[in-house]
Amino acid sequence: MEKHLQHPVFKVLANIAHTQQTEAYVIGGYVRDIFLSRPSKDIDIVVLGNGIDFAEAAGRQLRTKVAVFKNFGTAMLKTQDLEIEFVGARKESYRADSRKPIVENGTIQDDQLRRDFTINALAISLNADNYAALVDPFDGITDLKNKLIRTPLDPEITFSDDPLRMMRAIRFAAQLGFSIDHQAIEAIKKQKERIGIVSKERITDELNKIILSKLPSVGFKYLFDTGLLHLIFPQMANLYGVEIINGKGHKDNFYHTLQVLDNICEATDDIWLRWAAILHDIAKPATKRFEEGHGWTFHGHEDKGARMVPQIFGQLKLPLNEKMKYVQKLVQLHLRPIVLAQEVVTDSAVRRLLFDAGEDIESLMMLCNADVTTKNEYKVKKYRNNFELVKQKLKDVEERDKIRNWQPPITGNDIMQIFGLTAGKEVGLIKNAIREAILEGEITNSYDEALQFMLEKAKQFGLVPVKQ
Ligand code: CTP
Repeated sequence: MEKHLQHPVFKVLANIAHTQQTEAYVIGGYVRDIFLSRPSKDIDIVVLGNGIDFAEAAGRQLRTKVAVFKNFGTAMLKTQDLEIEFVGARKESYRADSRKPIVENGTIQDDQLRRDFTINALAISLNADNYAALVDPFDGITDLKNKLIRTPLDPEITFSDDPLRMMRAIRFAAQLGFSIDHQAIEAIKKQKERIGIVSKERITDELNKIILSKLPSVGFKYLFDTGLLHLIFPQMANLYGVEIINGKGHKDNFYHTLQVLDNICEATDDIWLRWAAILHDIAKPATKRFEEGHGWTFHGHEDKGARMVPQIFGQLKLPLNEKMKYVQKLVQLHLRPIVLAQEVVTDSAVRRLLFDAGEDIESLMMLCNADVTTKNEYKVKKYRNNFELVKQKLKDVEERDKIRNWQPPITGNDIMQIFGLTAGKEVGLIKNAIREAILEGEITNSYDEALQFMLEKAKQFGLVPVKQ
């Protein structure tokens, strides 16, 4: 194990343990990540005694400031590129109504026992008598090998102590590609309601980590199967299920959404584009109808879905800023390229799409590509070919017409000056007419053509230019 403690800082810490006649261990995520070959810069040190005194001694030796969190009995320092957190070994129990523990001093094993998972309870000694030895009383190493998330204690106790750990179990499963021990799953099912004492921000933090993992569907399936999803994000759980009328079913929108999400993760790491994938069909349950002779329809689910986005962001404490607007726009427009790809691709339809999507056109195309989840090879091929056509046309139209960040060639101010108007309905009408003419391809996106067009159009409104 000594090779894992190459950084000189570990010798400094070992010396302090020796001088203070106490024991210290590297513990938690840093040790786990050594075995997973995931280099980490966050180190947790547990001290049998006072973690703050230990940290202050380390700060003096390393000539760096120490941040002390007296209430938590922890301290933190930064040295070179490392962030080191110190805590005294604890033996804890929790009250039923709060995540704040009642703390007593404990042994290293007490401390390990109260940690969330066996793979996070691994410790490496910094003590002279067994320097660099692995301390693994709950066989976390075997769980790492077997890719298993398991709690050191009876999972009911571990999760009841801190219900956020139910989310953490699922987050680690998604991030690491592990499975969750059967007993732990049963315990989550039993205690899911206790997630209610955890702040929304912390829940969403974990949710975002699941979404940022390589295969988020793994995490969402666990969230759904344990019932946590119904509590933290009911709109998504609501996508689940297939209804059958007259022998006709529709696809299960929960599994479809997961497939779209996994698909988009191959194309992008952007969390907001991933959120757009999650939310693209969110209004399908609310807009579902069975139409005789036609089958299932979800008319307007893109509009309703876009309207649901701010409310869902608010509920999950996601930012209500331009990121939300971006997700909303993608949900609103998500059918457009696909409709286009099913029909003859006209220049004017492409121009309209480019106009509405603006600089988010690439994101929208990625979302639509991910949205093709049919198992029908023929259909997939047809869509993909048409997508390529749409993309090529987007490029051509873009080069020719510069629609992407469209600025009207004639502004409202121009119109007012030319016709001696004050701001009002007519100005809007003329502006719209010009925009429509450009999008329809009647005129090009240039000042001269727009001016000629406008002068003609103005006659219909009975307007005469006062100056040209
Ligand atoms: N821990 C715990 N229960 C929690 C949070 C943390 O027992 N609810 C313990 C675990 O031993 C964990 C360590 O504290 O390994 C550090 O927690 P944290 O920094 O949140 O997670 P890491 O395991 O380091 O993983 P990551 O950095 O990926 O979040």
